[in-house]
Amino acid sequence: MEFPLFHLDFLNNRILIAVIAILHVLINHPLAVGGIPLVTLLEWQGSRSGDARWDELAQRIMKTFFLITTTVGALTGVGIWFSTSLVNPVAIGSLIRVFFWAWFTEWLVFVTEVALIMVYFLSWKRSLESPEAKKRHIRWGIILSIASWITMVLIVAILSFMMDPGNWMSQHTLVNGFFNPIYAPQLAFRTTLAMLMAGTVVLSLTGWFCRRDEDLRLKAVSLVSRWSLIWLPLCAIASYWYWQRVPGAMRANLATAVATQAFSNWHEAMLLIMITGLGIVLLLLTAGAMTSPGFRVPRYAAVVPALVLAGCLGSFERVREFIRKPYAIGQYMYSNGIRVQEYPLLQRDGLLAHATYTPVREITSENELQAGQTLFTLTCTRCHTVNGVNSIRVQLNRMYGKQPWEKDKIAQFISTLHTSRSYMPPFPGNARERQALAAYLVSLQTGGQLPGAQSVGIGQLAAPPAYDLNDPDATSDPTQERIP
Ligand code: HEC
Repeated sequence: MEFPLFHLDFLNNRILIAVIAILHVLINHPLAVGGIPLVTLLEWQGSRSGDARWDELAQRIMKTFFLITTTVGALTGVGIWFSTSLVNPVAIGSLIRVFFWAWFTEWLVFVTEVALIMVYFLSWKRSLESPEAKKRHIRWGIILSIASWITMVLIVAILSFMMDPGNWMSQHTLVNGFFNPIYAPQLAFRTTLAMLMAGTVVLSLTGWFCRRDEDLRLKAVSLVSRWSLIWLPLCAIASYWYWQRVPGAMRANLATAVATQAFSNWHEAMLLIMITGLGIVLLLLTAGAMTSPGFRVPRYAAVVPALVLAGCLGSFERVREFIRKPYAIGQYMYSNGIRVQEYPLLQRDGLLAHATYTPVREITSENELQAGQTLFTLTCTRCHTVNGVNSIRVQLNRMYGKQPWEKDKIAQFISTLHTSRSYMPPFPGNARERQALAAYLVSLQTGGQLPGAQSVGIGQLAAPPAYDLNDPDATSDPTQERIP
């Protein structure tokens, strides 16, 4: 409401974030957080055993990790903040207010991490000059491993805060926000998963990097499989701990989160597929750990655990994003970017009266459709499109069929959004606005205008809302935005 609104009608805004964020996590977890310690371990194995092939393997893996993390990894990392600020700037604004110093520290840690990765990768050749140089180099690997993990330590605080701010809701301090109820289990889960996944990625790479040295491949398969097997049970324990801390209302969203509403009955089947997948991972890793010249895991099978885990991590991120609904920040701000505490005021005066960017302030019979379009953009487009993903047209067709949609019925439904579907926020406007939104939705059955930037934000800053400064309830002046 306080910012112009960006809307991608076909793709849906959240998919923009999801693609960037999932790609980032798939690179960051196994290649940086888990990958660097594992590369360091392989390097140490070379130094300990005196077998230079280990060192060469470690260096080649590191080159791959270096190239990917410093290009796609870094770009998508920055991309997450660009895309989230575009799609939900108010939520990011609130997070910056709470995590101000953590955000700043994160930048320092990130720059340090990039500098260290340069040092570690680029000084590899020099480390071969003497055993002392090698020892020093391994120490750099350990320091880099710690720095990579600290970026996760900071970011996870923000992610888990969005799921459950905990007692920050009553005591607004950074420490309360940082050490929220889900923080420790989510950090444990992501850390152990990153280590586990790093093992499976290196397992896949051995087939390629050791293609001319079967003896080394067998040794490497055995070592990295054992590494993964150590982390697997820890990751299982951490994920159970995590699940226990997820608020009950969010767990109820799981079925729709894993599949979609239409397929929610299949969610058990999908969970079964996931569990089977994890069983196969366990089996292959065990086989990998037992590898010997007489018992080999084929090269192509060694790729399977990494693929299964990548699929699981992708679904996990999707589910984590979904089960937060109807909130962007648990109990504090709804997904539509409106704070829970602003609702009474908005539902009394109307949303348009307080919106910063709107072409319409007062609804008349002439501008009703335009008002409805604006209301749809402001309150529904963070989750719905007209024609694309989670299309409102398809949803209404499913509910009311092909006969003419009735404005009153739809207006009635809008007032019960949150009770009929717990993952939708309540409608944040007043009765007149429900009517206008319903009129707009009816117009979509036979055409209608698409929502989007043309309706809210580009060159359309309306006259500022009129405030009665003596009204003690008028706490939501967007020009005087203040978080307690
Ligand atoms: C926080 C995200 C979110 C917001 C905001 C949201 N919705 Fe939804 N809505 C959903 C999801 C998710 C579904 C179910 C999609 C599926 O799985 O099929 C849904 C379903 C619906 C349905 C079909 C309900 C049914 O019983 O089948 C309608 C109608 C609907 N939304 C209207 C709206 C309107 C109108 C708004 C804006 C005032 C809105 N929604 C805002 C997420 C949201």
